[in-house]
Amino acid sequence: MTILVLGATGKTGRRVVPRLRERGADVRAASRSGETRFDWTDRSSWADAVRGAEAVYLIAPEDPAPIEPFVSQAVAAGVRRFVTLSGRATEKWAGRFGAGMAEAERVVQASGAGWTILRSNNFDQNFDEDLWREPLLAGRLALPAGDLREPFVDVEDLAEVAATVLTSTGHDGRIYDLSGPESITFADAVETIAKVSGRPMEYVAVTPAAYRDELLAAGWPEEAVHELNALFEIMREGHVTMPTDDIERLLGRPATSFASYAERVWAG
Ligand SMILES: NC(=O)c1ccc[n+]([C@@H]2O[C@H](COP(=O)([O-])OP(=O)(O)OC[C@H]3O[C@@H](n4cnc5c(N)ncnc54)[C@H](OP(=O)(O)O)[C@@H]3O)[C@@H](O)[C@H]2O)c1
Repeated sequence: MTILVLGATGKTGRRVVPRLRERGADVRAASRSGETRFDWTDRSSWADAVRGAEAVYLIAPEDPAPIEPFVSQAVAAGVRRFVTLSGRATEKWAGRFGAGMAEAERVVQASGAGWTILRSNNFDQNFDEDLWREPLLAGRLALPAGDLREPFVDVEDLAEVAATVLTSTGHDGRIYDLSGPESITFADAVETIAKVSGRPMEYVAVTPAAYRDELLAAGWPEEAVHELNALFEIMREGHVTMPTDDIERLLGRPATSFASYAERVWAG
C-alpha cells in the first residue's frame, strides 16, 4: 500500500514516515524539499505525488485555496483515505484562525473518500523545534497566555496515532481529539524545561497588545501576528483546556507527560 505523507519534513510528518515504513508501508515522503517534491502552490507537482497512492496524510497549507482541487485530483487518481491534522474545538476557532485546517476538515469530509481527522492541542515540540525555541534559549518566553492551562501533546504520540490510523481499519469518519495527559500552565512548562536543562528561563505573561508589538518589532508580518493572537485568544477562552483520553484509547498506553518530554529532549 502506498501512502503519501505531506509535510514529510515537518514536526509530525518526519515522525510519521519512519513509523509507516517500519509497518511495511510504501511511503512517499513529500514536501517542497522532501524525497518527493510536492508544492501546494505548484499544481504541476501534484500528479507524481498522488499517482498510485491509496492514502494521504494531509498537513494543510495556510492558504485554503489549493486544498479542494488537490483532494479532488487525489480522489480521481485513486486515493481512498485521508488522515488530516487539525486543532481541537474547530467549531470555536473556524473563521477566526487556521483557515487551511478548517478547509481541510471540510474538504476531506465532502470528498467521498474515507477520512479521519486528528485534532491536536499545542505540541510539546513547539518549545524546542518551533516558535518558542529561540525566546526560551534567550531566557524569556513572553506570551499572552496568562495562567491558562494547556494539555500539550508530544508529537511522538501524535505520529504514532497517525501511523496507527493510516495502517489499520475502523477509523473512517472518526474525529480524534489528541492531548497530553495533564493541563499545565506556560509557567509550569517553562519551569520544567529550565529545571531539566539547567538553563535560566522565565515565562512572562504579556497582554495581547504587547505581544503584537513585540512580534511586529521583530519583523513578523501583520497576518501572522493576527493568527498568533487569535490562537492565544482561543486558548484563553478555555475551549481546549481539558485533557482527552483518545491517545490512550488508540495506543493502549497513556499519553506522554510534559515532564517525560522535557527529560527526553532538554536534559543535559
Ligand atoms: N504546532 C502545533 O502545536 C499544532 C497543533 C495543532 C495543529 N497544528 C497544525 O499542524 C500543521 C503543521 O504540521 P507540522 O507541525 O507537522 O509541520 P511543520 O513543522 O510546521 O512543517 C511544515 C511542513 O510543510 C511543508 N511545507 C511548507 N510549505 C509547503 C508548500 N508550499 N507545499 C508543500 N509543503 C509545504 C514543509 O516542508 P518543506 O519546507 O520541505 O516544503 C514541512 O514539511 C499546521 O496545519 C498547524 O496548524 C499545529
